[in-house]
Amino acid sequence: MKLLIVNGSTRQARATDRVVKWVENNVKGYGLENVEFETIDLRELNLPLFDEPVSPMMNENRVTEGSVKQWLDALAGADGYVFVTPEYNHAMGNGLKNAIDFIDYQIMKKPFIVVGHGGVGGARAIENVKTTLNANIGAVPVPNSVNVFGYVGYQDLISETGEPNDDNVRAQEGPLKGAVETLAWYANALKTAREQ
Ligand SMILES: Cc1cc2nc3c(=O)[nH]c(=O)nc-3n(C[C@H](O)[C@H](O)[C@H](O)COP(=O)(O)O)c2cc1C
Repeated sequence: MKLLIVNGSTRQARATDRVVKWVENNVKGYGLENVEFETIDLRELNLPLFDEPVSPMMNENRVTEGSVKQWLDALAGADGYVFVTPEYNHAMGNGLKNAIDFIDYQIMKKPFIVVGHGGVGGARAIENVKTTLNANIGAVPVPNSVNVFGYVGYQDLISETGEPNDDNVRAQEGPLKGAVETLAWYANALKTAREQ
């Protein structure tokens, strides 16, 4: 079973890399059986700005190529997702929203968690991602989420290699473990249900 970690920031000077590395370092230690983690980076993927003539979910003859196909194939090949997002103006960033708009049925009935960061732990961005992925696209939000409180880059809360430099970040390692374990449980249960 594969769980895909999505780096949901596309800014050149982004701090989200540090949060992604912190997540990657932590998940390695969980020893979850039959679970493989992979990371996809939306900045590296460099998707175009969404400009399709028909809503992806309504387009029966949709053909994708290049970075869009790569993104959709990566989503289709996973059973659950860890979206890591900053908070921009009380919402997710534009790069992640743009990437979400390309999705048709690749993540329907598959679970996800959201790791947010920012002044209030990315709480509003997390809610925004949960609603956006569930409402139309039909992905399943797991109740747990993870809040990294503060400004990760400016305050050096997490090092560039993902080591926590702050007690609030360390305090989120328990919730992160709980969230990923719950995600794996849902991923397994929903995979079995989808295959029936
Ligand atoms: C355009 C913009 C809007 C922001 N709005 C918020 C906000 O609403 N709430 C918040 O907690 N932080 C906000 N921030 C600060 C971000 O949490 C912080 O810059 C973080 O590092 C952004 O993630 P990134 O470095 O991966 O882009 C904002 C930052 C930017 C660039």
